Amino acid sequence: MSLNVLFLGDVVGKPGRRVIKDELPKFREEKNIDFVVCNAENAAGGFGLDHKSTRELFEAGVDVITLGDHTWDKHEINSVFEQYSKVLRPLNFPKSAPGKGFAIYTTAEGKRIAVLNIIGRSFMNGAYDCPFQVSRALHKEYRLGEDYDALVIDIHAEATAEAVCLGHIWDGRASLISGSHTHIPTADYRIMPKGTGYQTDAGMCGFYDSSLGSEFKAPLHRFENAGKAMLQIASGPGTMCGVMAKVADNGLCEEITPVRVGGVLHQAR
Ligand SMILES: [Fe+2]
Ligand SMILES: [Fe+2]
Repeated sequence: MSLNVLFLGDVVGKPGRRVIKDELPKFREEKNIDFVVCNAENAAGGFGLDHKSTRELFEAGVDVITLGDHTWDKHEINSVFEQYSKVLRPLNFPKSAPGKGFAIYTTAEGKRIAVLNIIGRSFMNGAYDCPFQVSRALHKEYRLGEDYDALVIDIHAEATAEAVCLGHIWDGRASLISGSHTHIPTADYRIMPKGTGYQTDAGMCGFYDSSLGSEFKAPLHRFENAGKAMLQIASGPGTMCGVMAKVADNGLCEEITPVRVGGVLHQAR
């Protein structure tokens, strides 16, 4: 029996949390979705993740939360990691960092679903280990179809070239790979030659009449005057944005579908 998995891109502030709360429960039912992974690095007011946002997302039907370069924006993320085993941060953060970046979960139906969160290094500030070396180490340790029934990977990358290279080395070893971080969905969703579903960026769950979820004023000031300005989350109807995969018994992707529900984007489901 196949599995349906959904990946949702960066949740940005209240518009992102609200559309997930309003749309995800119905969508899960309608599409028979077994497992939802959601990047929530901007869920708490645009910066990081707190207890309240974590609870809201899990209550709406998210199974596992992933993060990115905004992981440490809120101090309470450390206690979120302690309380929830289903919140991951990129695996290639320094080894001493709190939290974990890879885990295997078992669904109520007994399916083993692994989730990997990894961060790119190109145009990204941070003392991150090489995502390629970290990936190749996992290749030696785990096998799709043996150690887990499905593997969902969130590649949190700024550079599309880095994301596609990471996607390529995981082809045939994962069920669904989606990028996150740029907050803009790409149109390259497809099944790669060895059977892994792939999209370079899932886009954000947030309000798209904005600069990546923020009101235009501060980013415009930054770009036009090279000045500093505090970002404010724009308010408006959010789009639940991501990608969905039908996973076969061998763990590979049979069908990949973009998801854009609600808000101002062209709808897809
Ligand atoms: Fe990010
Ligand atoms: Fe983000």
